[in-house]
Amino acid sequence: MEKNRANQPIGMFDSGVGGLTLLKSIKNLLPNERLIYLGDTARVPYGTKSPKVIRKFSLQIAGFLEKLGIKALVVACHTASSTALSDLKEKMTIPVIGVIEPAVKKAVNITKNKNIGIIGTRTTINSGSYQSLIQKIDPRISITTVAAPILVPLVEEGWLNKEATRMILREYLAPLKKQQVDTLILGCTHYPLLRHLFTEEMGQSVALVDTSTETAIYLKELLKEKSLLNNSTTSHDYSFYVSDDPEKFSKLAQLFLGEKLETVKSVSLEE
Ligand code: DGL
Repeated sequence: MEKNRANQPIGMFDSGVGGLTLLKSIKNLLPNERLIYLGDTARVPYGTKSPKVIRKFSLQIAGFLEKLGIKALVVACHTASSTALSDLKEKMTIPVIGVIEPAVKKAVNITKNKNIGIIGTRTTINSGSYQSLIQKIDPRISITTVAAPILVPLVEEGWLNKEATRMILREYLAPLKKQQVDTLILGCTHYPLLRHLFTEEMGQSVALVDTSTETAIYLKELLKEKSLLNNSTTSHDYSFYVSDDPEKFSKLAQLFLGEKLETVKSVSLEE
């Protein structure tokens, strides 16, 4: 039994499609890994909900994925990572990783002027999770945060190059520019799709931390450490589950992954 654990899939979840940005990074870095992705599309967005509700949703999803025999759980959603990670770690017997720590470690490592910005959903920013981890690692770092709830729907509309998106982003980024942050954590699953606009608005000299890249690297290290890396070539064995319309998810997935998903299964999480 133990011997086969490395061949078991990794479970990952997000409030919806956004976590596919992380799936893409994991797919590139760990092509042998089998993945089960769950998007809680019936209850998206998480970014406007309370930590208590998100903890409940996250535990339900973890229970569902655990029954499918996953070897590790990746919390792709920043809002869920910010609010439910410690509950999940406490309840689960398998390794659980979120997106906060990998991003923070990278940001703390690369900032030169010790001035870091964080942008994310309102619940992520209000949770203080990014802020407290940065302070724990280096209390001398000054932090500027921005809650940007309007960006998620703009990305899901596919408005990646519209003037309206640029103007809204400019508004959100103004306090970060004023504080002269030299490193900016993109603290939401959707923001990598707006990376070009972030670069244009902040300027080339500001380092953007893409948490999906950092989390994939972190996951690889963790699997290696726990002897859970899949060395057999089960290339691209992925399953997708959603709590609302699979067709809608499949279409939107194209924007995030650049490909249409063939099979998306629907699941009920609330019983
Ligand atoms: N996935 C969420 C996050 O990364 C964004 C979408 C939502 O608010 O549910 O925080």
